[in-house]
Amino acid sequence: MEIQLWREILEPYALAVDELKVKFEHVQNSYKKAGLYSPIEQVDGRVKTISSILEKVQKKHISLDDFEAEIDDIAGIRIICQFIEDIYKVVELIRKRTDMKVVEELDYIKDTKPSGYRSYHMVIKYRVETIHGPKDIFAEIQIRTLAMNFWATVEHSLQYKYRQNMPETLRQRLLKASEAIVVLDREMSLVRSEIMDAQNSFTIKSNVVADILTNIQNLYKVANKREIIKIQDEFFRIYESEDLETLQHFAKELDIISEGYRAQSLR
Ligand code: GTP
Ligand code: MG
Repeated sequence: MEIQLWREILEPYALAVDELKVKFEHVQNSYKKAGLYSPIEQVDGRVKTISSILEKVQKKHISLDDFEAEIDDIAGIRIICQFIEDIYKVVELIRKRTDMKVVEELDYIKDTKPSGYRSYHMVIKYRVETIHGPKDIFAEIQIRTLAMNFWATVEHSLQYKYRQNMPETLRQRLLKASEAIVVLDREMSLVRSEIMDAQNSFTIKSNVVADILTNIQNLYKVANKREIIKIQDEFFRIYESEDLETLQHFAKELDIISEGYRAQSLR
């Protein structure tokens, strides 16, 4: 096949990679804009090069007539997460999307490859609009943590360097390094819950503060000035102490005071 023809064939795949990258980056940004922790840390994408398509065709004895149906990673997206839990969140997110259909899932985190490779793979069917009309193509999405990505990148370079002849000692080293990555990811998961807790108490605190301020504002209309100043001073004192429990207790007391005024006004 002529190079020019190849370029034409690969065009829809390039479009798919561009679109999918934009879509997943938008997911990441939506979380951030909402002030939420994003399970997506980074999105990469690439179209398989002509030479590695030919290599795969040869290796897997694929007929050139149907390589598009046989090779499912011509369009490739990689989603990098900070923590292992995030991977499964992203998987759920992809399963729920209506603009892509999951046709295959491989969990190499639960079933680590003999090399030590870990990642979550999804193959999706995705529709792009070309100048010749709609075209359904396959794309492979690899989802992995920063640590898994580090390992896979290094191992891939070494595989490339040694081809089929990787020295046994090096292979064993990589396996050991892969086990270290498992431990690292597990340790980082513990840090993740700390981050989540911190974020949670931040949300709780801002909600409590909002409640208190609404109550104080309403009291301005009914209570006497000296009492309000006393309440306000008390609020600032507790707020500065950064003790969430005391703040919550104060909010409850304020609720009771406000309730009292409301009861009075009803009489
Ligand atoms: P191919 O798609 O032909 O590679 O084989 P497959 O259909 O069995 O796919 P698999 O899910 O095993 O692997 C697809 C992709 O995952 C590869 O192209 C690599 O990017 C990545 N991968 C799989 N195994 C390894 C590995 O041992 N090391 C590294 N670094 N990457 C791997
Ligand atoms: Mg594959």
